[in-house]
Amino acid sequence: MSPTSQVPTLKALHALNPLQQPAYSSPQQLAEVVGKLRTLPPLVFAAECDKLRTKMASVAAGEAFMLQGGDCAETFADVTAANIQGKLRTLLSMAVVLTYAAQVPIVKVGRMAGQFAKPRSSATETRDGITLPAYRGDAVNGFDFTTEAREPDPQRLLDVYHSSSATLNLTRAFVTGGFAHLRSVHSWNADFVKNSAAGVQYQNLANEIDRALAFMVACGIDDDVFRTVDFYSSHEALILEYEHALTRIDSRTGQPYGTSGHFLWIGERTRQLYGAHVELLRHVRNPLGVKLGPETTADNALDLADRLDPDHEPGRITFITRMGAGKVREVLPDIVAKVIASGRQVAWVCDPMHGNTFEARNGYKTRAFSDVMAELNGFFDVHEELGTWPGGVHVELTGDDVTECVGGGDDLVEADLVSRYQTLCDPRLNRNQSLELAFLVAERLTTGRIKRPNPVQAYVPLTF
Ligand code: PEP
Ligand code: CO
Repeated sequence: MSPTSQVPTLKALHALNPLQQPAYSSPQQLAEVVGKLRTLPPLVFAAECDKLRTKMASVAAGEAFMLQGGDCAETFADVTAANIQGKLRTLLSMAVVLTYAAQVPIVKVGRMAGQFAKPRSSATETRDGITLPAYRGDAVNGFDFTTEAREPDPQRLLDVYHSSSATLNLTRAFVTGGFAHLRSVHSWNADFVKNSAAGVQYQNLANEIDRALAFMVACGIDDDVFRTVDFYSSHEALILEYEHALTRIDSRTGQPYGTSGHFLWIGERTRQLYGAHVELLRHVRNPLGVKLGPETTADNALDLADRLDPDHEPGRITFITRMGAGKVREVLPDIVAKVIASGRQVAWVCDPMHGNTFEARNGYKTRAFSDVMAELNGFFDVHEELGTWPGGVHVELTGDDVTECVGGGDDLVEADLVSRYQTLCDPRLNRNQSLELAFLVAERLTTGRIKRPNPVQAYVPLTF
């Protein structure tokens, strides 16, 4: 592994002309913020990252499935107990469906506690003849369309740190303090089960789990093994100042870790082989994700794997493919086949969101639930044909009853988008749509069409 001394300096990273970085007007202020960030405690502990890397190795080996989800962009205003709880219970409900309906261990990872910065396709936005810097997420500037709000402000990086810290603190409390106890399986969805097909399906599954728990207790087995769950944070490592300031040397091993989150990914727009993002992340020991869009070639993927994971370390690399429903069957097979032929075992995760965004006739940026499922089905089919393990799903979702994606069991149409369109960035699945997706994925995993390379023989979900 790379020795500590090789972590590049920020100056060296900037010499690589990093893409998607804010144009800060005061280097002095930025330096002060970075200095302050360097003094603040790490948000995650290196050993937790190691544990997640081991779990991702199980995903790569076909023995577990990754569920990664959360907002497209977290916002400071939404760092509230209700919002965090809502996302968590959506993810826990989905995980329960996948664990018990698909009989596969689930690695649970939130797009949470750090997902505050966004890459943009255009650096500016024009409205009514006025052009201002694009909104790059609360980490960088404000959403309001004013000169003041759109000015990148380095102080916001401190707000990212504190908002992530608060989110992580409550999440840790929830997942270890009883909220995630399997006994509460009903309560995660109590207020919406009645009115949707997926809700009813969920209720039935929850009833079965209740009966199993009651049986265990009657047999004298303590059901407190289900009291806590392992839950991890993740985000796109985009803003170099922030990620660099939180790159810390683990006192146990002397190795560098990105301590802003457990799992860090490199986005589709910043994964240049010799670019600054790859350069920084190749030096940290975290499990890493790399987004692969429809233009990716097998050689691109192999080069990235070689650069980020020269030692072929189990669990190190997750390729998050986001090809679009119309392209996945054409583009993915060659990439998977050649990566496998190279002798690498990576985790393959499908992001069925980012290749399927379109503008509705009323101007809203949306996604169709049917396209999301079509990409997922394409992903599953490709892996089935190649005999490789479809290792997980990466989704943008919320715990709220928003109307941002069309379709799904509630049959949302474009005219519904106006009623509860709350995202500042990409459209998210609402709670019903998320649960429905979990059942459909569970079905794909259990129809027998998907064969696990290393079937978890008679998997009994004794932990959740
Ligand atoms: C994202 O995950 O929010 C994102 C911007 O994805 P991508 O890099 O795949 O476009
Ligand atoms: Co997004």
